[in-house]
Amino acid sequence: MILTRPPMGWNSWNTFASDIDETMIMETADAMVNEGLLDLGYEYLVIDDCWSEKVRDAAGRLVPDHIKFPHGMKYVADYVHSKGLKFGMYSCAGAVTCAGYPGSFEHEFIDAASFASWGVDYLKYDYCFRDPNVPGEILYRRMGLALATCGRDIVFSACNWGADESQNWIKTTGAHLWRSTQDIFDTWGSIKTLTQKQPDLFKTNGQGCFNDMDMLVVGLNGRGNAATKDSLLSFEEYKAHFSIWALFGSPLMLGCDVRNMTDETRQIIKNREVIDIARDEAARQPFVIHAGFPSDEALTVCRMLENGDIAVGFINLSDKPVGRWRFFLTPGHIGLDASCGKNLHLRDVWTGEEFDMENEIFVAEEPLPPHSVRLYRVSLIDC
Ligand code: GLA
Repeated sequence: MILTRPPMGWNSWNTFASDIDETMIMETADAMVNEGLLDLGYEYLVIDDCWSEKVRDAAGRLVPDHIKFPHGMKYVADYVHSKGLKFGMYSCAGAVTCAGYPGSFEHEFIDAASFASWGVDYLKYDYCFRDPNVPGEILYRRMGLALATCGRDIVFSACNWGADESQNWIKTTGAHLWRSTQDIFDTWGSIKTLTQKQPDLFKTNGQGCFNDMDMLVVGLNGRGNAATKDSLLSFEEYKAHFSIWALFGSPLMLGCDVRNMTDETRQIIKNREVIDIARDEAARQPFVIHAGFPSDEALTVCRMLENGDIAVGFINLSDKPVGRWRFFLTPGHIGLDASCGKNLHLRDVWTGEEFDMENEIFVAEEPLPPHSVRLYRVSLIDC
């Protein structure tokens, strides 16, 4: 099984952490369908850490927590599947998970068999408490083999946070996507840090193993597990976050409580034009065409799309308005010159504004406000 595009869905961790149970998961499945999220591509519902008992059974198998999941995991998976969604779960390459539940170390094959028997379609595989004597690439290859031979197609979502130079070996392991950076929090500082780390990792992104920038915090609004005392992001900041994840080709895994969303959250996560960029069939690597002053805070990033359009983002990560001359695009940046007889037509995917490029250089109209992104879908026109 090859994953041809970065996955989309929902994961329990950013809002709920250990506070998960069957009822909440089933209500979330209902909401994903009723809100139209499944139709937009959000198809994986993933239960993160803290779902199991603390002790395996006599046969060495993982056991779902009897209080949180009284009917077991097949029951939950069947419900999720009945809604047309796919079902994901979590384990860890260490003997215990990050939150202290049993991990899959030296139980990889028996656990993969359990996941397959429950109807799991996606496994997030963490990296806490790993045996320091066994290299990470061995641990991920082992689970990769366990999943590949378990008799069911299961997406392998590696989560080792970019540790141990994993950009050099993760594609050898069977992982379909790879958490390339540390955990996200519901703050601008966190979004900025994760964004700034990506350009150096763009070369590893693409089909074969997508760079995962972590679950989205859009719609947390200062609540939930990934919130901190500094959390209170604005509409513009969440829009910027969503735009960056989409432009950079990261998975779009929602982290908010989709049963209780505000209209602002809906407006962001349901923007089909942004999702179309995230899910473009070519899944090509993005590239930086300009890093303006201050160099790593004002970025112009592009991605060539399957139909010949180009996604272009002007990204102001800084705390100040950044002058328009720090963001620009020329036909030359994307391979055109005067001999081509082509110019560029731009569509702002948030406002719907459209215009043709008038000069050879297109710059953002006004200085970009702090913590904001302009995202365009650019197409070629005759000139
Ligand atoms: C790590 C991962 C998170 C989450 C927690 C669960 O920190 O990076 O995404 O899965 O573990 O304990």
